[in-house]
Amino acid sequence: MIRKSKCVNKALDKAIPLCEPALKIREAMRYTLLSGGKRVRPMLCLAACELVGGQDSTAMPAACAIEMIHASSLIQDDLPCMDDDSLRRGKPTNHKVFGENIAILTVDALIALAIKHTVEGTSLDVPPARVLRAILEMAKAVGTEGLVAGQEADLAGEAVVGAIMGGGSDEEIERLRSYARCVGLMFQVVDDVLDVTKSSEELGKTAGKDLIAGKLTYPKVMGVEKSKEYAEKLNKEAREHLKTFDSDKVAPLLFFADYIAKRQN
Ligand code: IPE
Ligand code: IPE
Ligand code: MG
Ligand code: MG
Ligand code: MG
Repeated sequence: MIRKSKCVNKALDKAIPLCEPALKIREAMRYTLLSGGKRVRPMLCLAACELVGGQDSTAMPAACAIEMIHASSLIQDDLPCMDDDSLRRGKPTNHKVFGENIAILTVDALIALAIKHTVEGTSLDVPPARVLRAILEMAKAVGTEGLVAGQEADLAGEAVVGAIMGGGSDEEIERLRSYARCVGLMFQVVDDVLDVTKSSEELGKTAGKDLIAGKLTYPKVMGVEKSKEYAEKLNKEAREHLKTFDSDKVAPLLFFADYIAKRQN
């Protein structure tokens, strides 16, 4: 996972070079995109591609695109009209540094770049039908069925895009979708728990924010202990969906689910 996330970081850096003329918007895109982050979404995409027999390089542009879309959602989530946050990935939020106008344009620019990068960056050896299908999944993950509806934590799109690029069968793709739905929900349950159990320093974003803002979170609805139990239940369920895959090949994705369950930031 560490090796994969390093490859992702390199590829992301290359995707938005700082060239002349120096554009503020480009600087703002790089600021959030390259300022750390666990890179769990691109890692999930690459692991799904590998599981169905594809190469990392086949899914890398799509994996980077997914992280671009994620970064755009973080910038938007932190805006004064949304969660009004000043700390992200251990640094001042995008709008605090570049201003609200640039931050909003950066959100649009990152989503546009995600599509451009997938089309331009994916090897010509990948059948165009796969690329189209992957872009359709990404559009759904952003649109009214996804991000816009507040479903950021649905990691299903990420795994599905990886499996499509890797040439997985429809059945394999759907099994990965079910797995990732569980992991995605678990991701948000754990995110809500961390908000009330960790410090801002540990998280790199403002802790205790959900409580202050009166957000309807899992700990608020069922308490911290029950939320932790629910996360464990989702972890088990996620594993069930991968049962029919080869046990060696599936190990990284089982590890990934555990990592999400036990993550500390
Ligand atoms: C935070 O996502 C936003 C949520 C969906 C809860 P991450 O916890 O993956 O944030 P980074 O990418 O590591 O900064
Ligand atoms: C995550 O919600 C949804 C996003 C689109 C980022 P949160 O508001 O809980 O995310 P954090 O806790 O600020 O990262
Ligand atoms: Mg929010
Ligand atoms: Mg927030
Ligand atoms: Mg949160």
